[in-house]
Order: sequence, then C-alpha cells, then structure tokens
Amino acid sequence: MSLAKHLWPAALLLSFAVHATPQYFTVDKDTLSLIQQEMRGTGTLRTENGISIIQVDKRLSDFITEDLRSKKHGGFMAHSTYADALEALKPVPDIFPFAGFNITQQERVTPMLDQIQEPELVKTITKLSSFMTRFHRNTLGKQSQEWIRDNWAEITKGRSDVSIELFNHTSTPQPSVVLTLKGSTNPDEIIVIGGHGDSIASSWGGGDKKAPGADDNASGIACVTEVLRVLMQNSYKPTRTIKFISYAGEEGGLLGSNEVAAAYKKMNARVIGVMQLDMTNYKGSAKDIYMMSDNTNTELNNFVGNLIDTYVKVSWGYDKCGYGCSDHASWTKNGYPSTIPFESMASQYNPKIHSADDTLDVTGGHATHAVSFAKLGLAFAIELAK
Ligand code: BES
Ligand code: ZN
Repeated sequence: MSLAKHLWPAALLLSFAVHATPQYFTVDKDTLSLIQQEMRGTGTLRTENGISIIQVDKRLSDFITEDLRSKKHGGFMAHSTYADALEALKPVPDIFPFAGFNITQQERVTPMLDQIQEPELVKTITKLSSFMTRFHRNTLGKQSQEWIRDNWAEITKGRSDVSIELFNHTSTPQPSVVLTLKGSTNPDEIIVIGGHGDSIASSWGGGDKKAPGADDNASGIACVTEVLRVLMQNSYKPTRTIKFISYAGEEGGLLGSNEVAAAYKKMNARVIGVMQLDMTNYKGSAKDIYMMSDNTNTELNNFVGNLIDTYVKVSWGYDKCGYGCSDHASWTKNGYPSTIPFESMASQYNPKIHSADDTLDVTGGHATHAVSFAKLGLAFAIELAK
C-alpha cells in the first residue's frame, strides 16, 4: 500500500485557484499543523492513516495554494466535494509491482540506437516551440496537440497495427494524444512512453503569453516522436502493446495524465511500465541522466539504470523532485510502475523554463543531450514490449 498520492500534487491546485475555490482539502500531519498555526481552531472532518479532511474558506485556501505551494510544500490535495475527499483517504494498493525483466534484445536494439538522429529532435523541438504557446486553456494548446497527432499519423502511415486518438478531458479543453502500437501476441499488456505536450509562461498561468517550452517539454515529445520514427523505420512489431502519449495540461496540475491513468486503472488495464520524458535537453549537472526516486517505482528505476549502462553508456545518478513534479506521479498514484529520467539534478534544471526564453537557443540550437533520452526510450520500449 502506498499513501504517495497525498504527497505529490502541490500544484494540482493551480487549476482550482483560477476557477473556483475548492471546499475541502486532504492534508498530511505536517501540513495540518502548518495550517493550524496559520488559523487556530481549524478542525478536521475525518482522519485516516494520518491523512485528514478539512473544510476551508477562501483565506485558508489562498494560504494553502499560494504560501505552501510557493515553498514547494506538498502534502495536500484539493477537492470540490466531500465525496471526492473521502475517496482520497483510501490507501492506494500497488496494483502492478514491476515484474523483473532481463535485458535480452541487444541484437535488435543496438543497430537501432545509431538511427536516432539529433537533427530529427531539433526539427520537432523547433516546430513545437514555434507555437506562440501550447498552454492548455489556449486554443493553441489544442492545435499543437493536433499537430502532434498528425505528425505521428504521418510517421506511422500504412501500419494497420497503429491507431491514434485524441483523449478528451473534463479538467481541461486540451486533449491528450494517445498512439497505440498494438502488441502481436500480448496486446493486453501495455508499455507507456510519454511526455507533456503543453507549455506555460509562468506558474500563474499567463495563457496568452509567449511560452515556447522548447526544453519543457518539446524536448520530451521530440524524444517520444523519435523513438516512434526509428521503430517504424525498422518495421518493428512488439509482442506487448506500446502507447505513445502526449499529455494535456501537465502544467495546470497533471490534468491530462490524471484522467488517463485513472481511466486505465478503472478498465483494470495491465500497465507494465511507464516512462515519462519531461525536460531532456539541458545538461545542468555533472552526470547525464538523473532518475527521480520519489513518486516512481524502485525496481523499474533499477532496470532503467541497467538499460543506460547497457545501451546508452552515459553517466547517471538518482535525485528527488520532492513532490509530484510531472505525469509519472499520476501513474504512480494509480498503482502503476513509473520512472522519470531527467536532464539534470532537480535543483540544476534549465533556468529558462516556464518563460518566453525557454527556446532551443539556450542549448545552442542543438539537441545533443536529448539524444541519450531518445536512445533510452527506444531501449525501454523494446526491452519491455518484447
Ligand atoms: N518539467 C516540470 C517539472 C520539473 C521542473 C521537474 C524542474 C524538475 C525540475 C513540469 O512541467 C512542471 O513544471 N511541473 C510543475 C508541477 C505540476 C504539478 C504543475 C512544477 O514543478 O511546478
Ligand atoms: Zn515539464
């Protein structure tokens, strides 16, 4: 059992902050004591497993969503109804522990690694960052997702085992894009490789401001796209199903991935492993790849470390986001094994993200660092979908 779902979505509240004030929060012990210091006499409606439901007024809601969030303090989650809050008290079973996998596909993977092309990554990043913004509540957010869908359709044309859908959401007008490469013999077992397609100009929205999001996260989508392109170029057919996803509204609080992962859980989908690629092109630290050890699956992280050693052959280490910093957390929350190999240590990331200056110029117009992540994604897909 894990109660991780209470520790991640500090910023899920963003979307609520803009629209309506949430009426209930679930909070962990630390958060409750901070809140009770701020407003003495705040009572709890119910407490289970160290998580309490509180009802809030506007002032308290502002304190939680602004003060705590700006300090990157996690440990709380907003709910618009009491029923939703109650639902969040239930511990989440780890429904799918990561099954041990051996690395066996060297003959297939190794020749494909050399086909990963840095100029292809540059092409995708350049195109995506040419949208003025990909903000999830701007109409351009929908258009940019449609461009990704059309691009993936072009790459996979002629393949009868590929289908692509726009996954429409209730929490954002932006759709996610889901491409399914159907497994030949075990189609019910699913591997996911994805990143978020949206961008944002500042933490507080700025829906009409320039948000090229070249590193955050055109770079991740470029890697996902390049994995797909190389697999198609080799007429590759997996045994298990591989899903390629461009999530909507990540910057608004993991909106798209929350709905996607919850839908898969509801269908009892068998998701074997999920890789999130979010920020891959800025080398901010000594090592090339850092895997976030929080809100991810330890065994899957170990396996991905082995993939790096076997195939990518670059240096890597572990770090922590400290909160549910990207879409992998939505899968973890729903009981699925996920991993997020990241461009730098969590504290040394690209300083230009979430601004008009998150352009490819920051990395000299190149996508050299991202190449390692595309290779890793390719190895991940083939070794898990075999
Ligand atoms: N790409 C970032 C996550 C990130 C940034 C990880 C810096 C590590 C270092 C992501 O798009 C993002 O901005 N996430 C939000 C959280 C989300 C729940 C709104 C964040 O970190 O504030
Ligand atoms: Zn991001």
